[in-house]
Amino acid sequence: MIETERFQKTALGGAEQRCIDPACGARFGLNERLYVCPSCGGLLDVVLKAANDTDPRTLRAVWTSRLASFDPHDRSGVWRYRELLPFAGDTPIVTLAEGNTPLYDAPVSAAYCELDGLTLKHQGCNPTGSFKDTGMTTAVTQALILRARTVVCASTGNTAASLAAYAARAHLQCAILVPRGQISHNKLAQSLDYGAAVLELDGNFDDAMRVIRELAEDESIYLVNSINPFRIEGQKTVAAELLQQRDWRVPDHVVVPGGNLGNSSALGKGFKELKDLGLIDRLPRLSVVQAEGAAPFASLFGSESDVLTPIEHPQTLATAIKIGAPVSWQKALRAVLESGGTALSVSEQEMADAKAVIGREGIGCEPASATTVAGLKQLVASGVIRSDEDVVAVLTGHILKDTDYAIKYHQEELYTHDRTSGKTKEERRLTGTYSNPPARVKATKAAIVEGLRRHEQEHSGEA
Ligand code: F0G
Repeated sequence: MIETERFQKTALGGAEQRCIDPACGARFGLNERLYVCPSCGGLLDVVLKAANDTDPRTLRAVWTSRLASFDPHDRSGVWRYRELLPFAGDTPIVTLAEGNTPLYDAPVSAAYCELDGLTLKHQGCNPTGSFKDTGMTTAVTQALILRARTVVCASTGNTAASLAAYAARAHLQCAILVPRGQISHNKLAQSLDYGAAVLELDGNFDDAMRVIRELAEDESIYLVNSINPFRIEGQKTVAAELLQQRDWRVPDHVVVPGGNLGNSSALGKGFKELKDLGLIDRLPRLSVVQAEGAAPFASLFGSESDVLTPIEHPQTLATAIKIGAPVSWQKALRAVLESGGTALSVSEQEMADAKAVIGREGIGCEPASATTVAGLKQLVASGVIRSDEDVVAVLTGHILKDTDYAIKYHQEELYTHDRTSGKTKEERRLTGTYSNPPARVKATKAAIVEGLRRHEQEHSGEA
């Protein structure tokens, strides 16, 4: 039975939008084009209402059976779990077969963190190379339901690339706002190729976010940043996919990078709903790792305050998470506290080295993703995580998302941006602890054999 008329019918039962502020709790239908609560300005959640006869065993069995199906609704690692989504079962969807990302054993990274074992959920293996696709499939599907003409976002690069691709699939006009000169070339190349209107803004991501929210007041324009609850809905399904891949064994810890804090909010929501539905009996502890120069959420955790203080000039070479005023901090805070997790920050050097270690695993990721392994190393060293605990780190973007960074690290030409610190350029240079620069050789067999020998010698005893 559905509680009220406002709960619109979905595959599982019903759903509505609701203000996350318990003091307000205003409720809205799914087809109301909202980003924040019109009553109090709070963030909005989609709230699911399962039908009374929902059986967790049946859900697991249905999701398993769909793994053998070629129907696009089943092939998608998001829509496969459509019982968790706020859409009617027969909704026409915009999909690129997103999700379905691998869960890798990572012994090299585990040893680096002094863990007995570690698995990496590689969301960079999505169609456009980042986790954003899992939320974009639902957000752009909702854009079509709302009959939007134009979809827009502010972005540090990945949301933009993902939106550009899904908008192209849906034949929607797409405008993306990016901070000029502050996103990786690889991500920019994607958005250009997918045909989006790329608008480069003088300012940082937080400025872009502010402007785009003003733009989205226009009825024909639909904003798909993670402030949009339909983005979060798609992104939360990674919790179900991860647990299904683990035969529903709940990890002790799940660690994610934090920028605008949509991903941590989504994962937390996903685990919580699976627990409420009886598919799991406890929550994994969810921890968020930020880059030291862009860590307002980690600072909140270290303080007495319960309100996040934005950072005006965030700085990090991990441009994906160069964010000072994360929009979804309240949702992320709720998720982290409820699960008993924490938030912390890592230095540029720690992040760069962790990225190279993950690389030695044969698994490439972009710098922001490597905050997870760098953060885990700290959490194990400080005793927050025991070495025998069961840990999953979420890698959010692919190595090919930021090739400049990777090449510069290996050539020891990465410099931090903290020019105001009074440090010399040399002092700002990151050490290539695990660097692996290319060697120039003559076109002779002897020179190549010698090059190989030298490479072996230089890297013996490394991770
Ligand atoms: N990792 C990568 C690779 C990202 O691109 C982002 C965010 C994050 C982590 C942080 O996730 O914002 O949900 O906390 N990128 C956004 C963008 C901001 O515009 O592409 P979050």
